[in-house]
Amino acid sequence: MKPKVLVTRQIFPEALALVSKHCEVDSNQRDVPFSPPQLLKKLQRKDGLICLLTDTIDDKVLAKSPQLKIVSNVAVGYNNIDVNAATKRGVMVTNTPGVLDDTTADFTWCLILATARGLVEADKYFRSGKWKYWGVMQFLGHDVHHKTLGICGLGRIGKGVAKRARGFDMRILYTDAQRANPIIEQELRATFVDKKTLLQESDIVTLHVPLFPETTHYISASELKLMKKTAILINAARGPVVDEKALVKALKEGWIAGAGLDVYEKEPKPAPGLTKLKNVLLAPHAASASVDTRLKMSRMAAENCVAGLTGNRPPNLLNPEVLRAM
Ligand code: DGY
Repeated sequence: MKPKVLVTRQIFPEALALVSKHCEVDSNQRDVPFSPPQLLKKLQRKDGLICLLTDTIDDKVLAKSPQLKIVSNVAVGYNNIDVNAATKRGVMVTNTPGVLDDTTADFTWCLILATARGLVEADKYFRSGKWKYWGVMQFLGHDVHHKTLGICGLGRIGKGVAKRARGFDMRILYTDAQRANPIIEQELRATFVDKKTLLQESDIVTLHVPLFPETTHYISASELKLMKKTAILINAARGPVVDEKALVKALKEGWIAGAGLDVYEKEPKPAPGLTKLKNVLLAPHAASASVDTRLKMSRMAAENCVAGLTGNRPPNLLNPEVLRAM
């Protein structure tokens, strides 16, 4: 008998076909997230789960799905899954690292440029029909070239952002829990500094740290107060890395000049007041949303799931301890 797999949301048909070759698939083609009770019901007698960031897979869900052997997340981030609980229950967890780094770095640059130059507001103005003639004082933004870029978290995506910054002749600062190897620093022309120096000296601060308890509210009121009044903050990492309420206050009161956000503390809801502000650009968690990358992510999640259910080691296993315990 084929193993049974639940796919909680729409993924690319190529990926579904791959899973269907080896498994009996129950897929939610409506692409609306299941409510927690619906998810529990759907997970009954399932051996595998292909899920998205919108699905919370905690110990309660795992306890009520005793047949489950693998949870395959269609994302590199996996803060929606309690990996420790899964490990304790012998459930494999996988993610989709690597394939979205360049696409996310590209999008970070979309946010940087569009925020600094007020592109969305300019587009809205043009569409409204209010623009009557060219003017020296219209649509004044901030230059990006030759400015200082501060990268918080020099992982794969942070490095991609730094690489692209060289084309803008920027001074690049970075901070991280661990300093990068000198060859990488030299290649990227990136200087390691402490967080405080980075916040005080950067014109653009871009966040690329993963979400852990230690990085929750990595940027809060005290950090925002350290930044230049002309600086912009970019977040394409995870929403809770920024204290969104404090950010609204900072943007309103001019502690910083602007922000470009792709992620939110309580997705999909913005903090009160955020959408009223003109100096913030708001994207709906779309940094990895290119056709090529989302296809690769879907395929990777499918391959991870099939491997786990056919007695092979999933290529992107986050908790190999589970295999050792078998
Ligand atoms: C991820 O993969 O973690 C992104 O946030 C969505 O692509």
